[in-house]
Order: sequence, then C-alpha cells, then structure tokens
Amino acid sequence: MHLQELINTAKLLIADDKGLLAMDESNPTCNKRFAALKIPQTAEAHRAYREMIVTTPGLNECISGAILYDETVRQQLKDGTPFSKALADRGIIPGIKVDMGAKELAGHPGEKITEGLDGLRDRLNEYYLMGIRFAKWRAVITIGGGIPSSACIEANASALARYAALCQEADLVPVVEPEVLMDGDHTLEQCRAVTEDVLRTVFSHLYMQGVALEGMILKPNMVLPGLACPIQESIDKVADATVNCFLRAVPAAVPGIAFLSGGQSGELASARLNAMNVIFRSRLPWALGFSYARAIQQPALEIWHGEDANVTKAQKALLHRAKCNLAARRGEYSAAMEGK
Ligand code: 13P
Repeated sequence: MHLQELINTAKLLIADDKGLLAMDESNPTCNKRFAALKIPQTAEAHRAYREMIVTTPGLNECISGAILYDETVRQQLKDGTPFSKALADRGIIPGIKVDMGAKELAGHPGEKITEGLDGLRDRLNEYYLMGIRFAKWRAVITIGGGIPSSACIEANASALARYAALCQEADLVPVVEPEVLMDGDHTLEQCRAVTEDVLRTVFSHLYMQGVALEGMILKPNMVLPGLACPIQESIDKVADATVNCFLRAVPAAVPGIAFLSGGQSGELASARLNAMNVIFRSRLPWALGFSYARAIQQPALEIWHGEDANVTKAQKALLHRAKCNLAARRGEYSAAMEGK
C-alpha cells in the first residue's frame, strides 16, 4: 500500500469542486432502465450508451472521476480505445464498481447483504493494471417495521471495511457506500437515526480493519424522509439534518463525502447539495460533493434513447446536470440554471 498515492488520488477526486459520475449500473439495472425506454438490452447498446457519456465534450470540467462496471472496463470506444484509457485521456480518473450486488441476508427477511469479497484481491490487482485508481462497494440498508437489524448493519459494515482494506492494499481509493434507502414511509428523523447508527458502525469497522481514512471517500445517502412519508421537509431542513448527522458520525480525517442520489430528481439532488454548501461549507472538515448516477444521467438517457442521432443532444443534457452539481458544490446553484 502506498498511502501517499491514495491520499493524492482521493484529493484529486474532490478537487476544484468537481464530482464523481457513477456509470456503473450492473447489467440487470442497466437493462431495466433501457427496457423502460424500449432500448435494446445488449452489450453493444450498453457500450454505445457509455461511449456517449465518456465522450461528452467538457465533461472533465465538472467530473473528476467516473465509476465503470466490469463489462464496460473490458469494452472500447468505436475507435478501439479502452474505456479506462478514454477517461484518463480526458483527465477523468477511472474507477470501478467491485461489489457483486446485494443479496438476501439469511434469517433476516427484507434485509440485504452485499457480496463480492471472495477473490476480490485478485480482481483489484487486475483493475489496477487496467488503469483503474478507485473502487466502489455499495451496501444497502432498508428502513421498515423492525428493520434495519443490528445483524444487517454489522454484516454490511464489516464487508465494507474488509473491501476498503483490500482496496488500499491494491493502491485503489475505496469509495465506501452505505446506502440507507429512500423507499418507505419513514420520517426524516428515522432516516437520521438509522444513518447515524450505520455510519458509526461503518467507521468502527474501518478502524478495526486499519483503513486509512485520509485515503478513502465516503459515499452516503442524504438524510431524507421516505418517499411515501406524508411530511416532506424543506431543502434547508434536509441540509441541516444531513450535515449535523455527518458532523457527529464522520471523522474529520475523511477528505470527502460524495453523496449518491438514490432516486431523487436531478434538480432536488442539486438543490439539496447546494443548500448544504451554502449553509455549512466554511465550517466543515470534509468536502461535500456528489457521486450521482441517475441524478446526472437520467435526462440524457431519455434523450439518447438508443439512437446515434441523439448523441449530441443527450451529451448537452448530461453536461448540464454535471454543471449544476459543480455549482452546487460551490453553493452557486439556483433554479435559474434550469431555465425556469
Ligand atoms: P444513484 O445516484 O442513482 O443513487 O446511484 C449512485 C450509485 O452509484 C448507486 O450505487
């Protein structure tokens, strides 16, 4: 492990108010999103879509790193350039999703455990040789009647910490993603309590496994009411609840927090990140940024629709959302940017 290399990569990932673009949908997830728009669900369609994203002119002005999926890292642009090189050539650090998905947690109905630790050391070494410099692992926590259980939180935190330690051994920056889902009718306060518990447990396991906090990025959910909760708090209340939760649970040595969007609209994801930076930026120990998939990609995917003729228009929509989130990191985003 070369700690200074990890620290440098982590710093680059959060530098200049840029953020991460998650384009690492697994084949089942990508196919589901394509099917909803009647786009063919083939490896070539996945490739063409990812080429549209990566070749977006000016993307590197807002995006510091992009997270690929295993299928994509083995594919090339039409001109034969491998995706990881195409990103690096454009000044974007290539990353990769390395978990093998969330599966049912035995004995705990409704709860999940993320798999993928077996053989991970070899996969990480292979990815490093392909030019990959950071890696992501997503754990999923559901709020519901009597859940999450401590069994679920502990098992997922332990797996996240073991993955993060293996990443650092392989000189890859771990992007540690414990996601408390928005699904359900839970309140903002319930989400805050669960998120705080999850984060404390994750950091306890990271400490136990000897993970260097200076060489990692945290990718958490925002503290939000469930999608079906009748009380949907204001943007400022969400910003306040989220940042105060993180101030209690996330050590100051962590260089950056890059939120997932989790199914929020692109505009809300920008507005909430913006509010956090407007209200708190000067008082925070870590950078508050983004690592969005849907909140950056969705409008572009709808415009692209599997057609080469739509690439330029789709790239404009993608760049627009990336620019909105760069502005949100600076506390300079406003609804006016959306042309409304
Ligand atoms: P969303 O921003 O769509 O939640 O995706 C982020 C991500 O990488 C999920 O693992």
